[in-house]
Amino acid sequence: MVKEINEPISSSIGCRMLVASDQDQVEKLMVDSYTTREAMGQAVSNASLEDLKDHHLNVVKKYFPQGLSFGAYDIKTGELIGLVLMGIPCEAKKQKLNDAGKKMAKFIADLNLALPDDAKTSRCALIEAVTVREDYCNMGIMTALWDRCKLIGKAFNCSYVTSECTSMYSQKIAKKLGYTILNTIKFSEYTDETTKEKWFSSAKPPHLTAQLVCLKLA
Ligand SMILES: CC(C)(COP(=O)(O)OP(=O)(O)OC[C@H]1O[C@@H](n2cnc3c(N)ncnc32)[C@H](O)[C@@H]1OP(=O)(O)O)[C@@H](O)C(=O)NCCC(=O)NCCS
Repeated sequence: MVKEINEPISSSIGCRMLVASDQDQVEKLMVDSYTTREAMGQAVSNASLEDLKDHHLNVVKKYFPQGLSFGAYDIKTGELIGLVLMGIPCEAKKQKLNDAGKKMAKFIADLNLALPDDAKTSRCALIEAVTVREDYCNMGIMTALWDRCKLIGKAFNCSYVTSECTSMYSQKIAKKLGYTILNTIKFSEYTDETTKEKWFSSAKPPHLTAQLVCLKLA
């Protein structure tokens, strides 16, 4: 079992907490690796890449300064190749959202209605966004990073780690690491209660659902 964040993931991949001077690398990885591939953003009908980029950079601004985020780097080059953006939701600043951002925030709020009362009233560490650069994917890097989220949760005095998994791959990881699945919503079936519109009709296989998952920390 991993005892500290800085333990290398393999002989070629390291892991470390991210600091303010990493912000440019974090933003670049978010835009190049997350915005272009994350399934909920891809599923929003009529959202442009610019809208999604704008929204995701705001997400970085909201959570990154809290200091809970960490990442994987290539030991040879030092490049950041994987990222776990974490934060404490109640400490995050409210921001003005664009149209795509509003739709995604409403979906996520509805997904979170299934949180147990205990978690709603406890301090939770949220895994807000995760990504691994495509040329390093499917090698177990995110599984190794995700397994370390509980270390961050404990270090920041949280009772739970929660996440909204919008990728089938992150859903697999959470399940494998013992997270409880609290809610599952199919993108294509989600209907806004006011407009009766289906906002996520562009969802594509294999990422067809979002899952709310949580781990209670001892
Ligand atoms: C989701 C993501 C972070 C996974 O990173 P990763 O380092 O490739 O994940 P892992 O290698 O630990 O793989 C996790 C599981 O997904 C599977 N997987 C990962 N990439 C896959 C691929 N391209 N095809 C099929 N299965 C894949 C792995 O086989 C593994 O399953 P297993 O436990 O049954 O073996 C990465 O795909 C990504 O950055 N996606 C774009 C952004 C995104 O969707 N983020 C998640 C939002 S919640």
